[in-house]
Amino acid sequence: MANLLITGGAGYIGSHACFTLLQQDHTLVVVDDFSNGSVDALRAVATLAGLQSEPRQGLVGGSNRCWRWRAPTSRRTRLSLIEGDIRRAQDLQIAFEVLDEEPIAAVLHFAGLKAVAESVAKPLDYWDVNVSGSRQLFDVMAENHCRTVVFSSSATVYGMAESVPIHESQPVRPINPYGQTKAAVEQMLQDLAASAGPNEPGWRIACLRYFNPVGAHESGAIGEDPDGIPSNLLPLICQVASGQLERLEVYGSDWPTTDGTGVRDYIHVMDLAEGHCAALQTLLAEPPQMLTLNLGSGQGHSVLEMVKAFERINGVPVPYALCQRRAGDSAVSVADPRGAQGRLGWSTRRDLATICRDAWRWQQQNPLGYSN
Ligand SMILES: NC(=O)c1ccc[n+]([C@@H]2O[C@H](COP(=O)([O-])OP(=O)(O)OC[C@H]3O[C@@H](n4cnc5c(N)ncnc54)[C@H](O)[C@@H]3O)[C@@H](O)[C@H]2O)c1
Repeated sequence: MANLLITGGAGYIGSHACFTLLQQDHTLVVVDDFSNGSVDALRAVATLAGLQSEPRQGLVGGSNRCWRWRAPTSRRTRLSLIEGDIRRAQDLQIAFEVLDEEPIAAVLHFAGLKAVAESVAKPLDYWDVNVSGSRQLFDVMAENHCRTVVFSSSATVYGMAESVPIHESQPVRPINPYGQTKAAVEQMLQDLAASAGPNEPGWRIACLRYFNPVGAHESGAIGEDPDGIPSNLLPLICQVASGQLERLEVYGSDWPTTDGTGVRDYIHVMDLAEGHCAALQTLLAEPPQMLTLNLGSGQGHSVLEMVKAFERINGVPVPYALCQRRAGDSAVSVADPRGAQGRLGWSTRRDLATICRDAWRWQQQNPLGYSN
């Protein structure tokens, strides 16, 4: 049981991680600027976790909006949500102080921008939020004597991998600004890990390189809520199946794979959330160290396999059209998951059928996402 700061906790992966961490009795302070997240995501998380809204809502630190939830039988706040920007030191400081005298033991750092194509068009936004924002966060953490962090990295840091499955020892050679910013933050964390001296306590760091997070909590109450037309496969499939989009455009049917379409390692978002809990537990139990681990299933599925599985499991058609390859895509990206299995005792538990079923349940219950 620890007090944790969750940046970006109102987003897709962060909200699922919040639910899992609440289940493990942690107390959470979320900071999110709502650029791609929603208060409703955390309202749903609180309801799922059996918490109720506190009468004590309003502003903290003078101007930051704040929402709080607690268990019905207790006066203790279990979940606080502060509207704030990780690039602003004062917003982060408010988060470190919101639990009154109780210190924050660790940070799970999800906040960031994540769209590859957008990062090509707006690289400075990506360097600003992902890199400058992370630097600001680590600075405020050190000032508050908090040196434990789990960072959301990405398989994009590998760029065009030399071989599959991709082991963590493969070179970091990102091929787009988004991947560059993730690699830069990993490097910053490596430098911090090496900075411990005889009078400086060491950092406990986990860089988790996610493969393709998909699916939703089994209740259908929380899930992925893309802004506009989704850029990821499963939300696209869901919107085609529900009739919101006419058909799925499949980029590339001449890749050297079994059916010619690209192969990816899809990981259920609840498995991913559990991977974070395992990483946190390991960091808090062991001496200072830096872990760099893939979070993936180790199984690859092609785009057409995903379409067929979705149609079979949910009994809905997903019309698609085969199109040209997109620049910067690769044929196959699959994790070697043994590092996380060995170091964290964690591996994925949910299969492709569960992924398809849970993604569709979320879509059907929330056709317009949280604005529904
Ligand atoms: N979803 C994926 O496919 C994927 C894959 C690999 C890595 N990641 C990484 O995982 C993390 C979470 O991804 P996600 O899919 O949940 O994305 P998301 O956009 O749903 O969540 C990110 C959250 O961060 C918030 N945020 C953005 N900028 C902020 C800022 N300056 N200050 C405070 N909050 C801010 C957003 O409002 C949002 O709620 C990101 O760092 C992303 O790069 C995601």
